[in-house]
Amino acid sequence: MERGHGGAGTGSPGEGEPSPETRLATPEDWPTLSALLHRAELLDCLDPRETVYAGLREARTFLAFEGGEAVGALQFQVRRRPFVHLRLLAVRHAAQAKEVVAALLAAARLPTLEAGLEAWRYMAPPGPVGEALRHQGFRLVEEVVELEKEDYDIPSRGNRAVHIRPAREADVPALAALDAAAFTPFWRNDLGAFQEYLRGGYTFLAAELKGQVVGYLVAEDHPAGFYIIRLAVDPAWQGQGVGTRLLAEAIALAKAQGTLPILLNTQRTNRQARRLYTWFGFRPSGRVLWAWTRAIAYP
Ligand SMILES: CC(C)(COP(=O)(O)OP(=O)(O)OC[C@H]1O[C@@H](n2cnc3c(N)ncnc32)[C@H](O)[C@@H]1OP(=O)(O)O)[C@@H](O)C(=O)NCCC(=O)NCCS
Repeated sequence: MERGHGGAGTGSPGEGEPSPETRLATPEDWPTLSALLHRAELLDCLDPRETVYAGLREARTFLAFEGGEAVGALQFQVRRRPFVHLRLLAVRHAAQAKEVVAALLAAARLPTLEAGLEAWRYMAPPGPVGEALRHQGFRLVEEVVELEKEDYDIPSRGNRAVHIRPAREADVPALAALDAAAFTPFWRNDLGAFQEYLRGGYTFLAAELKGQVVGYLVAEDHPAGFYIIRLAVDPAWQGQGVGTRLLAEAIALAKAQGTLPILLNTQRTNRQARRLYTWFGFRPSGRVLWAWTRAIAYP
């Protein structure tokens, strides 16, 4: 029997699993969600409260209840299609993690599939929420390590024939193509991600060589420091000092702002990127994230 009910986007987990009731949350649920975020024994949420509240208004949040008590919440963000980012998972009682996570994923299944999305994407420090997801068929894609740099030293300016300038709207098709060539699907940016970088609040640099966009870098001012959130070079131009050129420019900008540390994330196994960052004086901060995925329509 389907125990989830309450309108659009509800569902039930696999047979044999006891399930809490689930429903789509509305802005009126803010006090309930807010209280749950305070009391949750398991919580993965890197976003500020305003962002979480926006997720209620945009019908991207599901709540799980048992005996009238809110026992779990899930919020997703449509980002990097066809992946959908699971940005918040809260579980009131750790012992119930598997059932609650299963019920919430089942509730979110229909609206995400209807929106043309294909796979979940989840990143968080290793921990029990990830293990509950593993139980629901999620696969660990990669370990991501955070690197930090505490100075503005630049060992090389890279390829001086490369012109660095702010990225603009007209670059987006070329940047998206470059990105698709440089990254596996899990890490690719969609057009929406580039639009977001252009909307402001980001340092968004394009590397141009002979009139062609061959790389880009995105950084943001984060409470923790100057965060480089993206660096990519067209595979046809890799190994020719383009990445070095972009990274050197970003460090010069951090210096002009007086912001330290300079931070970035990279896949543990990305040897080329790690060689470049190590050369530039980046060292592991000790913080790691695990990247998970699963088809929404699983199994
Ligand atoms: C990682 C990436 C951005 C590097 O850009 P790039 O233009 O290829 O890099 P550059 O040519 O400027 O420099 C990288 C080089 O620095 C070199 N380097 C490292 N230490 C050095 C030193 N002490 N002296 C001189 N060069 C050094 C490395 O040799 C590396 O080249 P190699 O791997 O061919 O040996 C690019 O390869 C890329 O886009 N990869 C795919 C996307 C990606 O992984 N992005 C990063 C995600 S965090």
